[in-house]
Amino acid sequence: MCGIVGILGTGPVAAQIVEALKRLEYRGYDSAGIATLEAGRLTRRRAEGKLRNLEIRLAEQPLGGAVGIGHTRWATHGKPTENNAHPHASDKLAVVHNGIIENFRELREELLAAGHQFVTQTDTEVVAHLVTHAMRGGLGPREAVAACLPRLRGAFALAFLFDGEDNLLIGARQGAPLAVGYGDGEMYIGSDALALAPFTDSITYLEDGDWVVLTRDSAQFHDAANNIVQRARQRSQASAFLIDKGNHRHFMAKEIHEQPEVVGRTLAHYLDMSQGRVALPFALPFEARALASITISACGTAYYAGLIAKYWFERFARLPVEIDVASEFRYREAPMRKDGLMIVVSQSGETADTLAGLRYAKDQGQHVLCVVNVLTSTIARESHVVAPTLAGPEIGVASTKAFTCQLSVLACLAIGFARARGTIDASREAELVSQLMALPGLMAEAIKREPATEQLAQFLSKARDVLYLGRGTSFPLALEGALKLKEISYIHAEGYAAGELKHGPIALIDEDMPVIVIAPFDPVFEKTVSNMQEVSARGGKIILIANEKAAHEGAIDAHAIIAMPDMAPDFAPIVYAVPAQLIAYHTAVHMGKDVDQPRNLAKSVTVE
Ligand code: F6R
Repeated sequence: MCGIVGILGTGPVAAQIVEALKRLEYRGYDSAGIATLEAGRLTRRRAEGKLRNLEIRLAEQPLGGAVGIGHTRWATHGKPTENNAHPHASDKLAVVHNGIIENFRELREELLAAGHQFVTQTDTEVVAHLVTHAMRGGLGPREAVAACLPRLRGAFALAFLFDGEDNLLIGARQGAPLAVGYGDGEMYIGSDALALAPFTDSITYLEDGDWVVLTRDSAQFHDAANNIVQRARQRSQASAFLIDKGNHRHFMAKEIHEQPEVVGRTLAHYLDMSQGRVALPFALPFEARALASITISACGTAYYAGLIAKYWFERFARLPVEIDVASEFRYREAPMRKDGLMIVVSQSGETADTLAGLRYAKDQGQHVLCVVNVLTSTIARESHVVAPTLAGPEIGVASTKAFTCQLSVLACLAIGFARARGTIDASREAELVSQLMALPGLMAEAIKREPATEQLAQFLSKARDVLYLGRGTSFPLALEGALKLKEISYIHAEGYAAGELKHGPIALIDEDMPVIVIAPFDPVFEKTVSNMQEVSARGGKIILIANEKAAHEGAIDAHAIIAMPDMAPDFAPIVYAVPAQLIAYHTAVHMGKDVDQPRNLAKSVTVE
């Protein structure tokens, strides 16, 4: 969603705020702004578009001041114009906001009736007016914020800067993350530890409902009931990660190339490689043997990881699996079986719908396990068991390495559960574990196919629509391939179960339709070959991603073949994801699109 930062500094802070916003730009990038106190008075600079536009504005009109707040926006209410950009301000204060104020309409009516004039289409502006109203009524900044927070509904994080208050920032957290950072005579606040990493690794996360009063030498935390509370400080790992692109043109390219390493690191965390078995790095607060069912819920790419894992949990552990996108699951009122396990999958750990699904499952008495990349996230904190992916920070908006790491964790869980339930024996476990251990090497081989994927870019960039087909675990991967292509190239793409082709989508096939078929050599390969013949017979241009030998034996008339290394098929999606990602990446780059920050998207979706 949006990124928030605030600094109580010892010198001019504008440049530091921009530096922190750069690390938050993955959360939103349609406009940005900053406010500081120059000679004690609130001053703002804002700009439409990416952060570099704000930097240009600041170069033209520099901003002094040793205290300030900044924001990078992903628009929810109101177009991404300069006028709607944060901070929103009055004569008393400036505020930056991440999330949604759900009752902003009624508050706006009330404030209009009280004589306030609104100049933006945002929900945030009501917060500025509401607190200003309380201050005009005689309250100080702290009392005014304390009085107004209970009136706000929704999931949000806020940071306030007050006119004439050179040693004060106030932050509030309700449903969206916020962290305080401690420096040497300085104090910071930000949406995540990553933003604060250049300044400090000493961090406190606000709990849900908390608000905090910061001065240069103190942080006073209050809970939702306004009690002063202590919140633990912790060392953030964020600074250990360098946020740069290395030798790559884009974060997405870097993250695709990192996959052999991060998948290897993740697998090493879950496997006892010398013994050839799964060794979960945490104790389970339930007996895998006693589980009645699994429910999986997630959004987007994380949902597709769950869809693939469904096949593994069913096949290996013989557990019935229900899976749904979180935005549906949370409202479905699904009955959940006693002794059921809920698995939520999320890179950010902050996705609003996924979090709501988790809470629903907890209310229904389920055990809740999350597969997350950000260990300090809300989803991690609210789950009974946290299964980390060790992907490192994922900056490109399109998820790549988080996806393959999620699959790696889910594969380990499926094998671990299967063994605990006695549905596989030790030798099958060892066989599956050795397949997992081969994955990083196979992914490195898959990356060597990059030139072949690049060659397709020109051809695909001319397409209006692209169809992706697969069977078994390749079906969800087809969905993921189509999502990757559409989100970064803006070419319309659909994923289909290959067997569904003749039930409708075959009508779309003509000479202009590229059809990307994901077909590892698995027990359903021959059936996929028949589906490819149907496409071929209608002039469709097949791009086949398959093991070379199988592809040639299948005698398929393909426009292009991405020849993949030989491998056992069980965990093929983890390897076949690589060419699917590279095809999308190179097509989008060829078309001149902004692959790291595609239009309309944001990395962390903390609103519904
Ligand atoms: C697509 C993508 C999104 C996310 C989805 C869930 O490339 O990144 O579809 O997968 O928004 O996000 P997380 O995993 O943070 O819950």
